[in-house]
Amino acid sequence: MSLSNAAGPRRSLWSKHKIFETNSIILIIGVLLVISVGGLVEIAPLFYLKNTIEKVEGMRPYTPLELAGRAIYVREGCYNCHSQMIRPLRDEVERYGHYSLAAESMYDKPFQWGSKRIGPDLARVGGKYSDEWHRLHLEDPRLIVPQSIMPGYGFLFRNELPLGEIGDEMRANRAGGVPYTDEMIAAARTDLKAQATPDHPGQDDLAKRYPKAQARDFDGDPGRITEADALIAYLQVLGTFIDFKLYDDKANIR
Ligand code: HEC
Repeated sequence: MSLSNAAGPRRSLWSKHKIFETNSIILIIGVLLVISVGGLVEIAPLFYLKNTIEKVEGMRPYTPLELAGRAIYVREGCYNCHSQMIRPLRDEVERYGHYSLAAESMYDKPFQWGSKRIGPDLARVGGKYSDEWHRLHLEDPRLIVPQSIMPGYGFLFRNELPLGEIGDEMRANRAGGVPYTDEMIAAARTDLKAQATPDHPGQDDLAKRYPKAQARDFDGDPGRITEADALIAYLQVLGTFIDFKLYDDKANIR
């Protein structure tokens, strides 16, 4: 007697839940409802929180040479093996550096966060190695890391960089929201040459348009501008825009 009394109220709850368990359409509607409320609660605040959309000092659009390098990175599918997103987890921060900020991808159209790490994360590889290191490593990764399974990209050193396409590339990025001005697009070829040629007279103008742009011969062949020039210029700038000492002081992070 006492047992069936105890089970009574429970049973009536179950009978209400039975509606979901015996009717797949109602179950689907219920699931969708729960997921959309959960999604809204998680996602909607991100559109208003300041630190997900704040501009951070130091971020600038890529120079024409870096942008051309980025296009080669995408063309060659480097993102299939490399991520560009450091998560705020201790092991990642200790290995790769400060966790990635949303603002660091603001001029990446499309972003290169990747989804797989067959090789290491590249979000802060800029300045980690010399150009010479990148040259050897791109030519044949096993010259530097004997066990590496990364393919060689020696052909990039032989392919002349087609300068005619850079204006279109910038216009496409502008359509996606990167603030390239008409002046930047008009000067694209000169800026590109200035960045890849040592002692080029256009380097002052380049630095005015793109603060702290590094200009030098990247591929080891000062006479020519190759795809390797562009790719190494791109790799050497990754993760170097923001001065994290200043950023963490301002954001009050230790
Ligand atoms: C098949 C997967 C694969 C592809 C594709 C690939 N990589 Fe790698 N990459 C690796 C692996 C594995 C390593 C680690 C061993 C090494 O240094 O070679 C690596 C290492 C690197 C490193 C050194 C990173 C560090 O912090 O030590 C750089 C830079 C790099 N790759 C750039 C590139 C670029 C640029 C491309 C495209 C042109 C590319 N990789 C394509 C697998 C790949």
